[in-house]
Amino acid sequence: MDNRDWWKPENLKESEKAFLENDNLEELDTENEFGSYKIMRIKDDLENSKIHSHNDLQPRYRVKSIQKILGGNRYHKILDVGCGLGYTTKELAEVFVEANISGIDISEDAILYASKKFKKCEFLCEAIDPLDIDQLFDYDLITAIEFFPFTRTNSLEDHIAYISHLTKDMRLGGSLVIFQLWDNPNSLSVNYEVLRKNFSHLDFKAYDMPITKIGTFIHSRRLAVFISIFLRPILRVITKRKIGLYKMIVITKSAD
Ligand SMILES: C[S@@+](CC[C@H](N)C(=O)[O-])C[C@H]1O[C@@H](n2cnc3c(N)ncnc32)[C@H](O)[C@@H]1O
Repeated sequence: MDNRDWWKPENLKESEKAFLENDNLEELDTENEFGSYKIMRIKDDLENSKIHSHNDLQPRYRVKSIQKILGGNRYHKILDVGCGLGYTTKELAEVFVEANISGIDISEDAILYASKKFKKCEFLCEAIDPLDIDQLFDYDLITAIEFFPFTRTNSLEDHIAYISHLTKDMRLGGSLVIFQLWDNPNSLSVNYEVLRKNFSHLDFKAYDMPITKIGTFIHSRRLAVFISIFLRPILRVITKRKIGLYKMIVITKSAD
């Protein structure tokens, strides 16, 4: 395997095996999603699982932003790809109350946890894979939040394959929403302009998103982004950490 391809479905499936087979929770590497998910499934232990570094457990402002940007509740079937423990999927169900909501993740432990905890949604353990031509995505809204194929590689070929795969069965007017850290050179951000030009039947729009904590407290996205622009350099100095810039990309299927 090329090391850069660790995020591909066949390699993720293989690497999850070691976590599924190891019942010694002390030994599990929580830097890895699969270790963290296993601890969450068995002990629901937020601290020792380090789940906060893998999943957003308070995604309300993200989902509210999606609703505001897309304008209302006209969606009937929504899919959250790479849903992890299902916190965003559950929030989608609370905001898009008229819709049927499903979440998909490759991780068995994550899906077992989500199915038990969030009964209003349907959860499926499956790998999203463009090579799987039988996979059907007849949804009118698909969310991909910090989804590895868009966040762990800068391969244009893979980004084209995944966007094509996720939008191929979508009705006209349906949208794929990608939400992720944008100043990441190993991600879709580096291919954004090329991708826009590549898909003539898809309309791409990019929206700046605020620092998470600011977005949680200030409900106007524009104001929260404005405040984030000023606070980011200050927080960088105080915390000695890079404070990332996030974007939401809305890709809508339009008539050719
Ligand atoms: C960083 S986590 C984000 C989880 C959640 N969306 C959130 O924001 O809290 C990425 C998730 O994508 C899942 N994933 C990665 N590649 C996948 C694929 N090809 N098919 C399904 N799930 C995948 C991983 O198992 C992991 O749970």
